[in-house]
Amino acid sequence: MRLRIEPGATLSGATKVPGDKSIAHRWLILAGSASGRSVLRGLPEGLDVRSTAACMAVLAGSETLAEWAVEASGNLLVEGVGWAGLAAPAGPVDCGNSGTTMRMLSGVLAGCDFASELAGDESLSRRPMERVAEPLRLMGADVKTTDGHAPVAIRGGALRGIRYELPVPSAQVKSAILFAGLNAEGKTAIVEPAAGRNHTEVALAALGAPLEVDGSIITVDAFQHEGFEGDVPGDPSSAAFLMGAAAVTGSRVAVRDVGLNPSRTAFVNVMRRMGMRIGEQERWESLGEPAGVLEVDGTGPLRPVMVSAAELPLVIDEVPVLAAVAAHAEGVSSFEGAGELRVKESDRLAGIVGGIVGMGGDARVDDDTLTIGGGGLAGGNASAIADHRIAMALAVAALGARSDCFIEGMEWAAISFPGFVDVLVSLGARAETT
Ligand code: S3P
Repeated sequence: MRLRIEPGATLSGATKVPGDKSIAHRWLILAGSASGRSVLRGLPEGLDVRSTAACMAVLAGSETLAEWAVEASGNLLVEGVGWAGLAAPAGPVDCGNSGTTMRMLSGVLAGCDFASELAGDESLSRRPMERVAEPLRLMGADVKTTDGHAPVAIRGGALRGIRYELPVPSAQVKSAILFAGLNAEGKTAIVEPAAGRNHTEVALAALGAPLEVDGSIITVDAFQHEGFEGDVPGDPSSAAFLMGAAAVTGSRVAVRDVGLNPSRTAFVNVMRRMGMRIGEQERWESLGEPAGVLEVDGTGPLRPVMVSAAELPLVIDEVPVLAAVAAHAEGVSSFEGAGELRVKESDRLAGIVGGIVGMGGDARVDDDTLTIGGGGLAGGNASAIADHRIAMALAVAALGARSDCFIEGMEWAAISFPGFVDVLVSLGARAETT
């Protein structure tokens, strides 16, 4: 699907974004493995989260999860079977395009006394899996990757707690070890080299798990949680695209009911440094996750920004949209320590550079530093390179260009934000798919 964006529109209004993908993956896993009934509201309908629902449907033998993975609407009631009730799948478990699904389920399956195999699509089968296999092996699971990638074969059970220093900051790997730790003998401690998103810790603490967080060290002991209720807040990483759209069009936009967990909103501070005025008001909380309104005033001039390697892990998913905004700033921006972006759903560094250059801007990568020359975009053609965040970031960049832009592969936005183009249009953007 090709998107044509006609620049020059001013956006206005208030909107919502789909439920948080990261939280939804975790709550679905926790609902299937709970002892008793859970009710989840506000789950996003994006394809990644459906992959987790489909996998948990197989492992927990849940009809409601299986139906939701296909229909994906409304509230979801799950009869959890407990960790001990998860059962061996008949064939490979399909994680689709979702790295979060594959890595976190590796941790779950490491604790299960049966053999299983996790598989994924072409993009997921290129992503590194040894980073999760290694700690799970140390805990006692037999985990085999395929040259470091999926398919991943796991023979789980009889785990023991370990102390593990994460070599790469990764919330997915941290969560996999935490899930395994809930089914291990003795305590499991994880040392994080840099703070990442903490949704697993927040949910486990809210469910009463024996979890301690002491600076960069997270410790958990074996635990079986009960069923729970939760309202998934909107995804701040999805809101970031609409906020970026406000910035490049000099507009004011508000996003309601969006997650405000501080481990996810570091990008707001980066946007503020770029000159955007952003109001943040907390309104409600569910299962420990705060939510509220983000009000964006993007009418001022855009300044370039420097994101250091220390800050980068906290804005890892927002680098594409921050780069899109930076292309319209008055000066040169840089993102240091951005190498991990090469092993996301695509090589996102290549995707950002190719897209910005294709639309008449200036961008390059030297080692792990992404540099974006400001000054705006002339207009032109770009490709989503089969990656949802690249598709949406390039659409944002295009909204501020000096002439029409065409983005190939816009359908990939549905991985995390079905209806993204419709939301942009409802706020006043001029865009059509062809
Ligand atoms: C996620 C963690 C991050 C992020 C991904 C979602 C999660 O990946 O990029 O989109 O939900 O835990 P890493 O753990 O590989 O950094």
